[in-house]
Amino acid sequence: MKTYLVTGGAGFIGSNYIHYMLEKYGQAIHIVNLDSLTYAGNLENLKEIQELPNYEFVKMDICNKEDLASLFQKYNFDRIIHFAAESHVDRSIKNPDVFAATNIMGTLNLLNAAKKAWESKDGFLPDKRYLQVSTDEVYGSLDDGDGYFYETTPLDPHSPYSASKASADMLVKSYIDTYRFPANITRCSNNYGPYQFPEKLIPLIINNALQKKSLPVYGDGKNVRDWLYVRDHAKAIDMVCEMGELFHIYNIGGHNEKQNIEIVKTILDTLLELLPESDARRAGISYDLIQYVGDRKGHDRRYAIAPDKIRSEIGWEPETMFRDGIRLTVQWYLSHEDWMKNVTDQSYMKYYADMYGKR
Ligand code: NAD
Ligand code: TYD
Repeated sequence: MKTYLVTGGAGFIGSNYIHYMLEKYGQAIHIVNLDSLTYAGNLENLKEIQELPNYEFVKMDICNKEDLASLFQKYNFDRIIHFAAESHVDRSIKNPDVFAATNIMGTLNLLNAAKKAWESKDGFLPDKRYLQVSTDEVYGSLDDGDGYFYETTPLDPHSPYSASKASADMLVKSYIDTYRFPANITRCSNNYGPYQFPEKLIPLIINNALQKKSLPVYGDGKNVRDWLYVRDHAKAIDMVCEMGELFHIYNIGGHNEKQNIEIVKTILDTLLELLPESDARRAGISYDLIQYVGDRKGHDRRYAIAPDKIRSEIGWEPETMFRDGIRLTVQWYLSHEDWMKNVTDQSYMKYYADMYGKR
């Protein structure tokens, strides 16, 4: 039975990954979810599986080296999937420090703990894998047009968020190059799907539209992001871990570039399509809610991933087309209004603070 350390498993992608893995492997794997439960961590995302005997939650901060050392004493991890991070660009513009602390120093702490645990006098123990979950944002920004990010594209991050993620990638690369540390780096495009915190574009627009609040679109609304359904990302991470060439970087994306304004309009159309005439939540939902607001500082114009390598070497393909994924996502938020309410009124924080101590 393989033991997985999943960091940041109470966040958006981490919790979707844990659900995916437990559905796929059942009792054949053991998952330890390490999360410090920042504002972005929500154990409600995992309540259906919290009692499983092969799942454990550990409240821990990756910035705390002593705690990490004791965790690695207790478990013999076979896989480390490192999601934990500060992840929101707008927050990084206002408060970069915590991004450097968690994303750079936290990653270094984790690398050191794993290196120590996996090193033997004959090199690293066999069949161990560390996977650094990174982002296409480390490549910087593309012009309007048809260029793509490849694994060989030079890193050129612009926001404090992407700079901290690029720094973490460089640390992982240095451990590969210096020690032959058994790692991979994956760089994925923008994710969407269930359990995404409503500070990010898609859940924010869904939530605001249901509240009849204005829908803020930055700048001219023509910035382009390349969207991938979160479950396809989870599957790609698992495939890279099991079939990827050790030490390699893999881009993950599904060729699904959309302008932000197009995303906002699609969400409104989908809400109107899914909500019956008789549903009170439908009234007042229209394009009139869209409000163009000042642009994000240093706003990257366009991201677009070339996923050729993961397709040809590993055989990964996205399974969920955008029109289906966005329907599933809007449907999920419509049927999980309690989840959204607990997040927006912050009661989720109080509930888990009572259980696991203050944040
Ligand atoms: P998220 O903000 O939803 O979740 C981050 C999780 O990390 C939270 O549960 C939080 O409590 C935890 N965390 C934060 N600081 C911590 C610390 N110091 N110690 C332990 N846990 C801590 O983020 P997400 O959107 O799920 O992203 C997960 C990872 O995927 C990140 O590394 C991000 O850079 C990367 N990524 C995200 C996207 C995207 O579109 N969201 C795309 C590509 C890559
Ligand atoms: P976001 O979801 O924050 O992801 P990222 O910045 O990591 O790509 O934003 C996606 C795009 O949507 C980005 O171009 C910024 C834009 N955006 C808005 O126009 N309005 C908003 O309220 C938010 C949160 C984002």
